[in-house]
Amino acid sequence: MNILTVGAGFVGATHSAVLASNGHNVVAYDLDDKKLADLTSREAARIDSRIYEPGLAKLIQQNETNLAFTSYLHGINPSSIDIVFLCLPTPAEELERQLEKRCLYVAAKQVAEHFATRNEGRQEKHLLFVNKSTVPIGTAATLSDKLSEWGLKNYGVGSNPEFLVEGKAVEGSQKPDRVVIGTTTEQDDKLLSKLYGNIDSNRIKHCSPSDAEAIKLLSNFELFSRIVLNTYHVIGRLCESRPDLDIARIVEGITADSRLPKWGHFDSLYAGGSCFDKDARNLLKTLLSCESSSYAVSFVNDVIQGNDAQLAHFYSRAQKQARFNFEGKTVAILGTAFKQDTNDVRMSPAIPITKWMIRDGVQTIRTYDPQASENYAKTFNDKRIIVCKDEAQALEGTQAAIIATDWPRFKSLSPLIEAQQRPYLLMDGRRMLAPNYQDLVSKGIGIIAVGSVPMFPER
Ligand SMILES: NC(=O)c1ccc[n+]([C@@H]2O[C@H](COP(=O)([O-])OP(=O)(O)OC[C@H]3O[C@@H](n4cnc5c(N)ncnc54)[C@H](O)[C@@H]3O)[C@@H](O)[C@H]2O)c1
Repeated sequence: MNILTVGAGFVGATHSAVLASNGHNVVAYDLDDKKLADLTSREAARIDSRIYEPGLAKLIQQNETNLAFTSYLHGINPSSIDIVFLCLPTPAEELERQLEKRCLYVAAKQVAEHFATRNEGRQEKHLLFVNKSTVPIGTAATLSDKLSEWGLKNYGVGSNPEFLVEGKAVEGSQKPDRVVIGTTTEQDDKLLSKLYGNIDSNRIKHCSPSDAEAIKLLSNFELFSRIVLNTYHVIGRLCESRPDLDIARIVEGITADSRLPKWGHFDSLYAGGSCFDKDARNLLKTLLSCESSSYAVSFVNDVIQGNDAQLAHFYSRAQKQARFNFEGKTVAILGTAFKQDTNDVRMSPAIPITKWMIRDGVQTIRTYDPQASENYAKTFNDKRIIVCKDEAQALEGTQAAIIATDWPRFKSLSPLIEAQQRPYLLMDGRRMLAPNYQDLVSKGIGIIAVGSVPMFPER
């Protein structure tokens, strides 16, 4: 099939590359010329520097003949396209300011007007617009009305929400747990089913566009609430208050029950990334308009607030439990991506932590991340922040280190931490050094870790 993807970010680039690798002809359209130059360079290092997703660069390189990137919409022959996928940002600010779907509609309008010229304006060819962005429930119906207002004819609108997990986006798109196809006609359902013909049909869930939009929001909320309320606030607070509890053993014991998933029991200071918080706010807005939803509203609200509270609590433990005052100190932040295997810093815990340390008078922040340093550095323009080439350089001359991302390589940090001056505080937001805590404490390092009581050397 001939596919146009609109938006070549994490979702659009991955979706385009995977569809191309399945034999479809794909053109990815985006406004960002710098991003497109990196993606079209076909050089792994340049692609990775723009969108770091394991396997993505290789897939783009392998599918040079049937995967194109462009910022020139009018260069695309509208009569040749079967499906248009919208993979556009739907930022929280647009939701907050009642401007939801703005970017989506701006782009959709440009594309619709171009496609209204297909078949010399006769628009004989049926065209399917499919939204992959995460949107408020009912967006497909609104979009359908708008497409008509913008002069489009002979089209369908579907919802095929994206469930990819950053860091595993390619793998997850090639072998998805499920593909949700929300359409209003049999014709469109058949078209999308054919597109995903390589996927086990049991994994394809057919529904209406509104159902599909709701499935996305509710799935993310189920995951988010499990992490925040159960893992962070119930299990976490308990284990951080009682020296007689060991969080790893407790999680092992709980999840031995075959009814309970292991997923969600993360050692973490914050559930970051572009989706959880935003999607929960999106859901909250819809729930506010539902009847008798006060418990649901307070539950969703608690999860949103609880996530922020987890990070604030972690940071405050430095002062409250270790009497560590950031004023005038040099501190290392190890990990600025919101999680391992990505260079995405959206809703990364390192960003609020950096702001709080600056507010609290830190003298210097030394940071290192294997992939996300550049994106993190762009967020700040502050001479106090020094981006380093590796962990050793980041730790030079520091009085404390904060591990904020679960990059596996941080598990080997103990010798570097041991080599620091005393007194020294390690704040382990991911329990990366958990097997070494006792040893580090015996060597004079103070430790604040998520899921543990504070550990200090004997004075
Ligand atoms: N990143 C994820 O893990 C993930 C997972 C599931 C769903 N989603 C959802 O998918 C959507 C896209 O997310 P993303 O992470 O790919 O965002 P992104 O910011 O990485 O990519 C969006 C792209 O759209 C482009 N764009 C913006 N306006 C445009 C326009 N008018 N015309 C053409 N291109 C335009 C931007 O330049 C950017 O490259 C969002 O709704 C997000 O919530 C994201």
